[in-house]
Amino acid sequence: MKEKMMGQGAGRLGFCRKAALAPMVRVGTLPMRLLALEYGADIVYCEELIDIRMAQCRRVVNEVLETVDFVAPDERVMFRTCLREKDHVVFQMGTADPQRALTVAQLVENDVAAIDVNMGCPKEYSTKGGMGAALLSDPDKIEAILSTLVKGVSKPVTCKIRILPSLEDTVSLAKRIEKTGVAAIAVHGRTKEERPQHPVHCDVIKAVAQAVSVPVIANGGSLDLVKSHGDIQVFREAAGASSVMLARAAMWNPSVFRCQGLLSLESVMEAYIRYAVRYENHASNTKYCLCQMLRDRVESPLGKQLHAAQTSAEICEVFGLQEFYSEHRARLLARQDSLHTGGQRPDRPVMEGDVTTMSVRFHRREYPPQITPKMHLLEWSRREKLEQPAYETVQRPLDRGFQSTVTVAEKKYRSTLWEKSKKFAEQAAAVVCLRSLGVSEGRVADPEAELVSKRKREERRADQSEEEKEGPHGPPNASDSTSRKRHQSKPQEEVKG
Ligand SMILES: Cc1cc2nc3c(=O)[nH]c(=O)nc-3n(C[C@H](O)[C@H](O)[C@H](O)COP(=O)(O)O)c2cc1C
Repeated sequence: MKEKMMGQGAGRLGFCRKAALAPMVRVGTLPMRLLALEYGADIVYCEELIDIRMAQCRRVVNEVLETVDFVAPDERVMFRTCLREKDHVVFQMGTADPQRALTVAQLVENDVAAIDVNMGCPKEYSTKGGMGAALLSDPDKIEAILSTLVKGVSKPVTCKIRILPSLEDTVSLAKRIEKTGVAAIAVHGRTKEERPQHPVHCDVIKAVAQAVSVPVIANGGSLDLVKSHGDIQVFREAAGASSVMLARAAMWNPSVFRCQGLLSLESVMEAYIRYAVRYENHASNTKYCLCQMLRDRVESPLGKQLHAAQTSAEICEVFGLQEFYSEHRARLLARQDSLHTGGQRPDRPVMEGDVTTMSVRFHRREYPPQITPKMHLLEWSRREKLEQPAYETVQRPLDRGFQSTVTVAEKKYRSTLWEKSKKFAEQAAAVVCLRSLGVSEGRVADPEAELVSKRKREERRADQSEEEKEGPHGPPNASDSTSRKRHQSKPQEEVKG
């Protein structure tokens, strides 16, 4: 088979003899893409992202994770990418609007290797907006979208189609697409009415590949044809295509891209979790992908344990990766610290608007058992006949870190460092307040600490009964008012810290 030229506008990314991770909603997030690359995939598609949502995103360089994040107004990270995949990742979007498609493509183009338009999704949520497979019956729209993208971005533009009921129509659509200047066409060898368990029509993909001169990427062979790396070549030849794109085979076991052969699912899952933790993937997404890998073993004891896990820490525990998780969190916090302190003395107060800030972190081991900065601040406020300190905590979705602001005598104090829990964030805010006021915070090395601890031990019983009266939810003004989650804390001390 002759090797095909890449269409006009092709950049560094080529589409000849390549094995690609197919776009998959929920599955194709950063950890899966990095794992597929590690195992030998040449190209990795992200999950389909809808243009309307993406157009509202802002680009954020996440220095802590060393990623580039595209963050929605509600602070959700819609697309996270990193340098490792920059020359391999294809950004797939769902669109029915040339101008909006261009806006999104221009937003991401410097961080990705190519832009793809999904023209194959048969799901109603996609087709009812004129996106996905709905485009297949609107070739003028296809042409408008692809031509606009090819002209408007510097990276290769591709599209992913399904076959049409007639071979002639499929071939003529592919020829029309080719004229727009796309760098490759991915062809899923099923019609939009056919289900994933129907056999893939390699003959139709082959006819398309013979009719156009841009590379064709064959897709749809996971169930019947591709079980391991060697089958990729078999599928490519059967479809007469330049490259192959795998969805389910890669979702079930991404080591299908490994030329040395498949790895055990256990080791693949562990490797996946390491990427998921490293890049702060949302636990529910991590869990979803792991469950897809387990397939019919989802009811096994491991599957049940996984099902019960709610957080990344708990997922790690199921797989015996607690130590890895703790080390990761420690590294993350240390990196946050070094980025935020920026070489400044950490205990120098800096005003940020009306808030006094310092770069301090709460280290539990620096305080005597059961005695915390919050207790010291509460005690001091009572002595000064002030209202009890009020804490307001926010959580940022970027890395799910917590930051708390404490108000004392109508002045606000907070640490610039984000903590791993709400409790620690409140303690850090209390430390900032105490240090700014020059009041002892009760560290072990602090001579005043012993006195306060003694008095606290005597008072704790009284405090606890007061707390019981107040009820478990604190004051009634806790609210969810902004895009960040807000946690209004009761002023009463939490003993654990
Ligand atoms: C979980 C899942 C999610 C998918 N999401 C997308 C998507 O976001 N965009 C897309 O073009 N196709 C999507 N597909 C379709 C696949 O990319 C692919 O076309 C199809 O599964 C056939 O390939 P296979 O036989 O290798 O699985 C998805 C498939 C699966 C299984």
